[in-house]
Amino acid sequence: MSKTSPASLQMILSLLIFTLPFHGNSQTTTDPEQAILLKLKQHWSNPPSIKHWNSTSTHCTWPEITCSGGSVTGLSLRDKNLTETIPPFICDLQNLTLLHLQNNNISGPFPTVLYNCSKLQKLDLSSNKFVGPIPGDIHRLSSLQDLNLAYNKFTGHIPASIGQLSELGTLQMAYNEFAPSIIPSTFMQLKKLKILWMSMANLVGEIPETIENLTVLELLDLSANQLSGNIPSGVFLLKNLTILHLHRNQLLGVIPR
Ligand SMILES: *[C@@H]1O[C@H](CO)[C@@H](O)[C@H](O)[C@H]1NC(C)=O
Ligand SMILES: *[C@@H]1O[C@H](CO)[C@@H](O)[C@H](O)[C@H]1NC(C)=O
Ligand SMILES: *[C@@H]1O[C@H](CO)[C@@H](O)[C@H](O)[C@H]1NC(C)=O
Ligand SMILES: *[C@@H]1O[C@H](CO)[C@@H](O)[C@H](O)[C@H]1NC(C)=O
Ligand SMILES: *[C@@H]1O[C@H](CO)[C@@H](O)[C@H](O)[C@H]1NC(C)=O
Repeated sequence: MSKTSPASLQMILSLLIFTLPFHGNSQTTTDPEQAILLKLKQHWSNPPSIKHWNSTSTHCTWPEITCSGGSVTGLSLRDKNLTETIPPFICDLQNLTLLHLQNNNISGPFPTVLYNCSKLQKLDLSSNKFVGPIPGDIHRLSSLQDLNLAYNKFTGHIPASIGQLSELGTLQMAYNEFAPSIIPSTFMQLKKLKILWMSMANLVGEIPETIENLTVLELLDLSANQLSGNIPSGVFLLKNLTILHLHRNQLLGVIPR
């Protein structure tokens, strides 16, 4: 048995004094991702809808947040009365895969700051007040699986580069104020596309024959545009198609048996 010398006792004591407050501190130190979320809340002018976002609880328990392995992967902020833009630091949430912002009052141009959210798979900006063109380099959101831009005030032409978003399963662009646009032929390369909703999108020209390439398509809504010409027969060969809306266009011809 070794005898504890006064010197080592003193050392133990000073170690205790040194480590105890440090331990206390580490419990109140904000998690870096929580700090980002609180900064977001502040950026959005502390809306009452997310007043429960505070450092007394862990952010992974907040109803709007989805975490995986302790890291934020989803932000579901529909109907939160948000009006400010999306700030670049949102992508400091490096594992963000889902961002739902539908039915707020966010204005301004398409949020290209999200290009830095390299894992973003699901983006819903529908029912806001976004304006201006959809940028031609939108394919930089290369992981996107679901894109919903419906019910905004986007203008300009529909960029062909959307066709390079090869993981897209859902594409909703209905109810915008686009310049008269053809359906880009590049859309027909979207092999995983199940839902294409482009009602009231000022589409002109013909439905591409190559639409038959969209073999997994389940819903096609091109209603209330100025599409002309025949309905390509390939549309009726799409085996998974269950919902087809083409009314309110200037389409011609017969619907095959
Ligand atoms: C912090 O949020 C919790 C719910 O997450 C709430 O019960 C509590 O009242 C909030 N505290 C403050 C100071 O706002
Ligand atoms: C993102 O997820 C990976 C894998 O789960 C993890 O190692 C990393 O720490 C997470 N990043 C952040 C910022 O939490
Ligand atoms: C939304 O914001 C407006 C303006 O700040 C405010 O008048 C209104 O009460 C808010 N609505 C909700 C549901 O928080
Ligand atoms: C958007 O703002 C308008 C006017 O401030 C308000 O009447 C409306 O309820 C808001 N909508 C949402 C979804 O916050
Ligand atoms: C993009 O995110 C990284 C961290 O993931 C950061 O270092 C970089 O500054 C960001 N770039 C921009 C343009 O925001």
